Amino acid sequence: MKFFIDTAEVSEIRELVPTGLVDGVTTNPSLIAKSGRNIREVLEEICALVDGPVSGEVTATDAKGMVEEGQRLAEIAPNLCVKLPLTMEGITACNQLNEKGIQTNVTLCFTAGQALLAAKAGATFVSPFVGRLDDIAFDGLDLISEICTVFAQYDALKTEVLVASVRSPLHVVEAAKMGADVATLPPKTLHQLVKHPLTDRGLEAFLKDWAATGQSIL
Ligand code: E4P
Repeated sequence: MKFFIDTAEVSEIRELVPTGLVDGVTTNPSLIAKSGRNIREVLEEICALVDGPVSGEVTATDAKGMVEEGQRLAEIAPNLCVKLPLTMEGITACNQLNEKGIQTNVTLCFTAGQALLAAKAGATFVSPFVGRLDDIAFDGLDLISEICTVFAQYDALKTEVLVASVRSPLHVVEAAKMGADVATLPPKTLHQLVKHPLTDRGLEAFLKDWAATGQSIL
């Protein structure tokens, strides 16, 4: 499973790059707004930091406007991936950007039917939102399972399932068990994934025993 980082804070990405765990980045208009920065500047910096796809979202609501904005965003860097909403206009824009060889991430997906439309439009990624479904008392992971099952029926279908709106390590592990291609994680969730109290306790005991030997490896 690939890990993307779900943030527009450049410092958070810079800190995580040396871990080798960052396969890409996703942003959305809310994350850009939260950063308080200019969208082009932020995306330029992120694209330079990360080799993999960096999603930048259009804000036009008609297909023509989305294609124009998408082409402008795609000029930022070769790894810029244009994010489009899962509306009929977004699907149309996805189809057109795909024909121009621009990678796309169709977002705000809440049903397997919607995911199928994104795939048929040639989306590079489709982003089902797990946490926001959980928030309204639907099981978000059921949606991931359903999309993975549908996509597995068609060898020709190349769209990758990008699990979004991730809120916990459990979302990540369960989605990985289903074979989802990518999860986009808030930095906090990535840090939560590494933590285990037995790891901390075990390390503390090893270091205490080691200190008692008076040895040094170097
Ligand atoms: C990423 O592509 C999505 O925009 C993001 O994961 C949404 O997360 P949220 O539901 O926590 O805002």
